[in-house]
Amino acid sequence: MKVFAYSYRKFDEEPYFKKYCEQLGIELGYTELDPTMETAHLAAGYDYISILLTRMDAQLVEEFHRLGVRVISNRLIGVDHVDVRRAKELGMVVTNAPYSSNCVADFTLMLMLMSIRRMKQMMRRNEMNDFTLPGIQGMEMRNLTVGVLGTGKIGRTVIHALSGFGCKILAYDLYPNEEVKAHAQYADLDTIFTTCDVITLHMPLTDENFHIISRDALAKMKKGVVLINTARGPLIDTEALIDALEAEHVGAAGLDVVEDEVGLYHNDWKNTVIHNRYIPLLRGFNNVIVTSHKAYYTDQSVDDMVRNSLLGIYYEHNGMENPFKV
Ligand code: NAD
Ligand code: COI
Repeated sequence: MKVFAYSYRKFDEEPYFKKYCEQLGIELGYTELDPTMETAHLAAGYDYISILLTRMDAQLVEEFHRLGVRVISNRLIGVDHVDVRRAKELGMVVTNAPYSSNCVADFTLMLMLMSIRRMKQMMRRNEMNDFTLPGIQGMEMRNLTVGVLGTGKIGRTVIHALSGFGCKILAYDLYPNEEVKAHAQYADLDTIFTTCDVITLHMPLTDENFHIISRDALAKMKKGVVLINTARGPLIDTEALIDALEAEHVGAAGLDVVEDEVGLYHNDWKNTVIHNRYIPLLRGFNNVIVTSHKAYYTDQSVDDMVRNSLLGIYYEHNGMENPFKV
């Protein structure tokens, strides 16, 4: 069985690729380059490709299909960067690689705590020996109501961690989960928007939830609300968020993801123009923490991502039931 891996990282993924290819009997071809119309030919002769968060539009899917690729396996959870509909029309299989949900949940809690304790301002002041108090008074979690939108694997892990802080937890999902009800109360979106002090997003990006945090939703929220997004940038109307931050309606934000980021993160742009105006704008606010889509990035997750991407291919190759098929 031959697999071709794109965006292959020698410095952290390679040991796992070696280990799992040996275990599963996989012959691996790879490139550190991303999959594009220019690099697609590298996968000629391979039935299976493994990719990361890089745009895989209909044209590119068609090109891989033309080259004989049957399975597009993602070394990640979200698949909104792939034209899954086109791949399925062509009879191709798309898989993802669920991994430890603690990595993103821990990071979410970190952004939440840093936001409510005004850590960005505090660290900036400390750098300049400014040890003053005005403007950096924090809030205590136990006094807050936190809204968790999306109660799948990551949302549930966030709720479990939050339960230790003694805050009130409201939850929203298209498919409520029994396990969640031990710590949180399900509520409709309007209730969450109007009553929560902190709102955190944990759903995949779909056609239905694009800009679920819309201008209207932001207007309904309490003054000073804290927004955390470790899911996908387009869940929030960023223009509206910037307006709400300028109006001091939103009190703080912790954003690991941002609109129009695909293709930007994991690359070094310091000597060139960055084609995303939201990142510098948001980073400029004292009360906004912008991280570069790294919530997932731990030792455990990289191991899981490589293993489950290869396993998804292995299951498909051997005609087995495939839990990673999307
Ligand atoms: P999951 O599939 O276990 O859970 C997603 C939940 O969202 C499900 O319960 C689903 O019912 C719910 N949902 C889907 N559409 C919805 C909608 N329109 N309204 C309400 N609920 C909806 O996925 P997960 O493992 O918890 O991951 C969630 C998302 O987090 C991923 O899809 C990905 O976009 C993002 N993510 C980000 C990082 C990062 O590094 N920042 C890492 C991993 C995943
Ligand atoms: C995912 O797994 O969905 C992520 O967002 C992490 C990815 C960018 C590596």
